[in-house]
Amino acid sequence: MIIAIDGPASSGKGTLARKLALHYGLPHLDTGSLYRAVARRLLKDGADLHDTVMAEDAARSLTEADLSDPRLRDEETGEAASIVSAMPGVRAALLEYQRTFAHQSGGAVLDGRDVGTVICPEADAKLFVTAAAAVRAKRRADELRARGETADDRRILEDIEARDRRDAERAVAPLRPAADAHLLDTSNLSIEAAFEAAKAVIESAVHQSAAERPPDKPAGL
Ligand code: DC
Repeated sequence: MIIAIDGPASSGKGTLARKLALHYGLPHLDTGSLYRAVARRLLKDGADLHDTVMAEDAARSLTEADLSDPRLRDEETGEAASIVSAMPGVRAALLEYQRTFAHQSGGAVLDGRDVGTVICPEADAKLFVTAAAAVRAKRRADELRARGETADDRRILEDIEARDRRDAERAVAPLRPAADAHLLDTSNLSIEAAFEAAKAVIESAVHQSAAERPPDKPAGL
């Protein structure tokens, strides 16, 4: 079973994807970490963040060490990831890895911006997780404070809105829900409530595809 979870920054999609992966015993890929790792390489090398040659080269040669860089979740890395992720060559270089991960035996949970639209249009269940920008900014600020970092609420909201615009307006694989994605607005939901709602969507999608499947083919769950 392949579960695709897309949505904007700090919508709760990562937490939800991890919980669903654990619940269904599936491997999980945070696809944003790939773009973050590319960005981190450029930042570490002091390269221009708009240098497509350097960025594509980094995307083609990512290592485990890049993916476990301790600064992957920093604000600076997230901002830079939003720039490199708009480059068609970077997206193309990371496509095959994501598709292979999704299609491993038994399936997987992937979260990002274009999982349901580009990486796995054939996913068994697709969720588009959203929340009001102000709610996402508050979550981000709380997360930073919990890590002992300082957080400027207004600046965080501005950054989130700018990132939304950049992710949604880029020419290649812009952030948008797949036509067959289920929208899940987590603005007023606890993590547990969002998890229950997501499970209900997934179980109904799986039962529906089981009902449409010829009787000799086994179900995905
Ligand atoms: O979800 P995140 O904050 O870790 O993502 C970092 C950046 O990577 C985000 O600005 C958009 C980009 N991204 C993308 O373009 N496609 C994906 N599938 C995942 C992330």
